[in-house]
Amino acid sequence: MASVRLVEVGPRDGLQNTKSVISTATKIELIRRLRSCGLKTIEATSFVSPKWVPQLADGAQVMSGIGDLIDSSDESYPVLVPNLKGLEAALKAGAREVAVFVSASEGFSRRNNNASVDEALKRAGEVARRVKGTNVKLRGYISSVIACPFDGPTHPNQVLKVTQTLLDMGCYEISLGDTTGVGTPAQVKRLLETILASVPASQIAGHFHDTYGQALANVLIAYQMGIRVFDCSIAGLGGCPYAPGAKGNLATEDVAYMFEKMGVQTGVKLDMVAEVGSWISGELNIPSASRAGPALLAT
Ligand code: HMG
Ligand code: MG
Repeated sequence: MASVRLVEVGPRDGLQNTKSVISTATKIELIRRLRSCGLKTIEATSFVSPKWVPQLADGAQVMSGIGDLIDSSDESYPVLVPNLKGLEAALKAGAREVAVFVSASEGFSRRNNNASVDEALKRAGEVARRVKGTNVKLRGYISSVIACPFDGPTHPNQVLKVTQTLLDMGCYEISLGDTTGVGTPAQVKRLLETILASVPASQIAGHFHDTYGQALANVLIAYQMGIRVFDCSIAGLGGCPYAPGAKGNLATEDVAYMFEKMGVQTGVKLDMVAEVGSWISGELNIPSASRAGPALLAT
């Protein structure tokens, strides 16, 4: 049976941008509830500068609260690291998988990494060299793959160049981020035609934000082109603090619903994930951005 892997990024991408302060206990509870829905890859937190992202300053405590889960052999709890300092903190906290993040565009790189694209790639390379030969897995993110909020449209060749650089460093998978959620299926198709001409689909994941309501359509076109890994966020939480106006990722409930009804396995229990989306929206005191979640609970 056909299947996809959903990478839940709510505890990181979702919670990095919240207005209210969320307790460490709630973050740990969220990860545990997401796991009970059948999600096997849950990005737990980030180890970035707390001055830049104060919401996730408790990364080490979150990791300590899920220590028993991290040891599991068929689950993964990656964390985001921008540099060696973040990597050291992540390893000390017990991380078995880390994700480096760079931008395909200069403007967003300056805002998000306080560095040029080349400088951010150099830092990512230092992280990659440090984990090479260990059992720590390395994932790579590229932001602004369709357009940059500061520089305008991103050329697919630029995304390909950064993708190849990250793969050469040792990333096992590159998650292509439409950070501001402006992309449409036609643009995603054009991007993937360029990427997949040189890179196997098995090394690419889709990370679509839903600002313009295009994320699910973008997932579908990417799926049709052979992509089998998609990032998503419970209740559609999130956005990037350094991408003005960007909304959350595609809601986990919505993408799980679409694939289940297409007969594509996700491993996610729909009724349970709808409950978790409702619970975390209540904790944050915001309406859920998912369509399927509230609909499932109403039927
Ligand atoms: P900087 O200020 O240029 O760094 O920030 P620095 O090396 O000059 O250090 C300045 C201070 O930060 C020092 O402390 C460092 O020790 C500290 P001070 O001496 O002033 O007390 N520092 C750190 N502290 C903790 N952990 C660290 C760390 N590194 C330095 N890892 C830096 C450069 C990259 C650190 C900063 O720009 C940063 O943290 N950026 C992260 C921003 C972020 O997290 N954005 C959101 C995640 S990316 C995203 O959402 C996109 C994605 O979802 C995909 C998509 O949608 O496109 C992945
Ligand atoms: Mg994101």
